Amino acid sequence: MRLLVAGGAGFIGSTFVARRLAGSGDTIVVLDKLTYAGLRENLAHLEDDPALGPRLRFVQGDICDAAVVAPLLAQADAVVNFAAETHVDRSITAADDFLRTGVIGVHVLLEAVREEAERRPGAPPRLVQVSTDEVYGSIESGAADEDAPLAPRSPYAATKAAGDLLCAAYRVTHGVDVVVSRGANTYGPRQHPEKLVPLFITNALDDAPLPLYGDGRQRRDWLHVDDHADAIALLLEQGTPGGVYNVPGGDERANRDVALAILAARGRSADLLRSVADRPGHDRRYAMTGERIAALGWRPRVSFSDGLAATVDWYAANREWWERARGPGWDDYYERQYGRRLAESTAV
Ligand code: NAD
Ligand code: TYD
Repeated sequence: MRLLVAGGAGFIGSTFVARRLAGSGDTIVVLDKLTYAGLRENLAHLEDDPALGPRLRFVQGDICDAAVVAPLLAQADAVVNFAAETHVDRSITAADDFLRTGVIGVHVLLEAVREEAERRPGAPPRLVQVSTDEVYGSIESGAADEDAPLAPRSPYAATKAAGDLLCAAYRVTHGVDVVVSRGANTYGPRQHPEKLVPLFITNALDDAPLPLYGDGRQRRDWLHVDDHADAIALLLEQGTPGGVYNVPGGDERANRDVALAILAARGRSADLLRSVADRPGHDRRYAMTGERIAALGWRPRVSFSDGLAATVDWYAANREWWERARGPGWDDYYERQYGRRLAESTAV
């Protein structure tokens, strides 16, 4: 296939590109704006590989820019959209960019897919929209299936739900070929250090406190990034047009248990764990069923305990990567997000 991968310089996108280049004969164009979360070097090891590099091209640009998207899509069989602002805490501080990329950006992609389908009705392009379990909101008991109501509770989740609804509307109104995946909390190498797992690993490596929101008994379902990338590849090839697919990790843990496992993996004291002021509107639990994607033959392969141990090792061995990934705004961000919280923190 000739693939256009939007947001391919981020965490899950770059893993998808790496696995796809190695496992298929695809040619891939990555379109990425390189926000604070996008790193050109996430693709450098692929571009430098003589077997893979010739099939990969990078374009810096914005999915909200139709003049950039349309000519790239004209050369592609499908577009996989990873591009989004992705950190819930940042969406609480300022949601503007979340709306731009999550709503306008998805609309630009859908319009481009619609126009391209009119130009080549025999081989219309497919859009795979990468969404999240957060669109279902907090699931206090049981698990959401794909028909569960959308009940987002953070600005981030609301913009992802808006993207999903636009995809559904374009399927019904314009007949575009679109598949939506809703993945669980993802972890693994090259995740930006602002997110829970890498934040707690890198703080543990630095002997710095781990800021646990509230009582730390919120629960998340953990999915390894390789499994998430492979699920998206399967949906790209075999998803039903207009289909929505949950991608659960099947490994549900309380945040405090994740934190304790990270500290234990590095032989650090549990005293580093600090209870800090909770995130406003904090979702208590995410949980999804996964029968629909299981019927296509997908199962997560990496257990959370194995995946977490390997992820801890990766961050320990790649300090240069995560110090660069923090970027120039990191100290200000950290102070704003955690300064006061840590000053007023209590023992767990
Ligand atoms: P990330 O923040 O690591 O990467 C996002 C990428 O998108 C970055 O490279 C960034 O530069 C790029 N980008 C942002 N705005 C853009 C724009 N307007 N135009 C072009 N590129 C733009 O995110 P991630 O964790 O890899 O998540 C990828 C996708 O998967 C997102 O859509 C997210 O909602 C979804 N998702 C993530 C998780 C998770 O736990 N990380 C779980 C389920 C779904
Ligand atoms: P996060 O990685 O931000 O993902 P999401 O909010 O999309 O699930 O957070 C995962 C969980 O960890 C969530 O319940 C919030 C919690 N958390 C903390 O307790 N402390 C932190 O510093 C962060 C970033 C998250």
